Amino acid sequence: MGAMMASITSELLFFLPFILLALLTFYTTTVAQCHGARRWRPTKKKRPNLPPGAPGWPFVGETFGYLRPHPATSVGRFMEQHVARYGKIYRSSLFGERTVVSADAGLNRYILQNEGRLFECSYPRSIGGILGKWSMLVLVGDAHREMRAISLNFLSSVRLRAVLLPEVERHILLVLRSWPPSGGGACFSAQHEAKKFTFNLMARNIMSMDPGEEETERLRLEYITFMKGVVSAPLNFPGTAYWKALKSRASILGVIERKMEDRLQKMSKENSSVEEDDLLGWALKQSNLSKEQILDLLLSLLFAGHETSSMALALAIFFLEGCPKAVQELREEHLEIARRQRLRGASRLSWEDYKEMVFTQCVINETLRLGNVVRFLHRKVIRDVHYNGYDIPKGWKILPVLAAVHLDSSLYEDPNQFNPWRWKSNAPSSFMPYGGGPRLCAGSELAKLEIAIFLHHLVLNFRWELAEPDQAFVYPFVDFPKGLPIRVQRIASEHSVLTNESTAM
Ligand code: HEM
Repeated sequence: MGAMMASITSELLFFLPFILLALLTFYTTTVAQCHGARRWRPTKKKRPNLPPGAPGWPFVGETFGYLRPHPATSVGRFMEQHVARYGKIYRSSLFGERTVVSADAGLNRYILQNEGRLFECSYPRSIGGILGKWSMLVLVGDAHREMRAISLNFLSSVRLRAVLLPEVERHILLVLRSWPPSGGGACFSAQHEAKKFTFNLMARNIMSMDPGEEETERLRLEYITFMKGVVSAPLNFPGTAYWKALKSRASILGVIERKMEDRLQKMSKENSSVEEDDLLGWALKQSNLSKEQILDLLLSLLFAGHETSSMALALAIFFLEGCPKAVQELREEHLEIARRQRLRGASRLSWEDYKEMVFTQCVINETLRLGNVVRFLHRKVIRDVHYNGYDIPKGWKILPVLAAVHLDSSLYEDPNQFNPWRWKSNAPSSFMPYGGGPRLCAGSELAKLEIAIFLHHLVLNFRWELAEPDQAFVYPFVDFPKGLPIRVQRIASEHSVLTNESTAM
């Protein structure tokens, strides 16, 4: 043991000068530039007026402070302190790069609206490794536009009304019918149930996989491992979350590939009429995408389409539990919709019913404002930018922090309070839970529909309470550490479609 220590020490001493040299080089080329921007434009040109800030430690900069977990309804200590000290636009060193962080509503909008001109989407390489090089989060320019057009077609308002609304309702009822009918103290994870719903909905509509089938369940479990890797450090050696996620990616792609081959075989059979109206069928028939591109598109839509809306749903359940007045108003809205539906003799919700869910949309907005499912976005500066007196150099990273704007007390009164009534007047332009500009979330309308229809059946059929205290945290992905354990009690209601077999789908 002693010999081993001595050998390690002598090796360290041998490498020390090289380590010091590397640190010195890093400091003079990167950190010093950050501090005083001395090497910005040599000699004659004026020194750029960088936003104020500090570079933090060599290599890691301020990354650990920035990523420190904090409650989802707050911006966290790091952000609070930095904004208090430097203002809403500051510079830092994050994820190994010189970075400008923006908590400024105007700059955030400017960044998103100038995508491709001054700024460009730029997620860490680990995301590309896991979601694939053809994932929409990674693509830029024409390749991004092409993939986006396909996603928008899949999520168009025509499909939303005709196909997705009944599908959403069917999957919600499947989940709610599995909840314990009499309460009786049974407690379960609301976050898990929300994920089950959004995953099954996506798997069905992306590649016609049915809920409860062995293959769908296997894929869902594989996806949990996969997700842990998307948000972990990109350390690719056996045992790490990233390594496991890469393995999961391979098995998920294996399932999608098999589905694709089956479908191609069906389509090639003479006189065959393939009935599945899913994204896989559409991509195979209507697009010129390669097999590799289709695989990444399906995988990343499955990812984008189920993690975010399930978390928003869990947050809505959480916030409402703490606000009985809002539950009361929601229930009244949905009772009225259910009453009219009954008068029509309809067993399913219609698009017109959905459009009547006005207070529900206030609840959804408030949930997204306070819970901030997507906290910040990754962008790169592709041309020198001058904004509000600051120079933001080309090549730097820039992070528009959506959460900081949504929790800004100069824009929202009592920003830490859950107050859906604030949305009775129009949404301010600073509200951007779905991003903005050419990369505005392609699934925002579907997400709203999913949450609204879920809340409809939830408030008509159940009362719920937290079985244990829990709270959403930012890791930086938003998560309930205990999975949001709830206890439910079924409400006897003439409007219930949960027990009505004639409406079983
Ligand atoms: C409450 C739920 C959701 C939230 C808060 C949300 C938020 C976002 C945000 C902020 C972006 C922009 C990312 C960026 O600019 O870097 C985005 C992009 C995207 N979202 Fe969502 N999303 C939600 C639900 C969904 C759903 C249900 C789907 C699909 C079924 C979806 C599909 C997408 C896609 C495909 C993109 C990429 C758009 C592009 O790059 O052009 N999202 N989402």
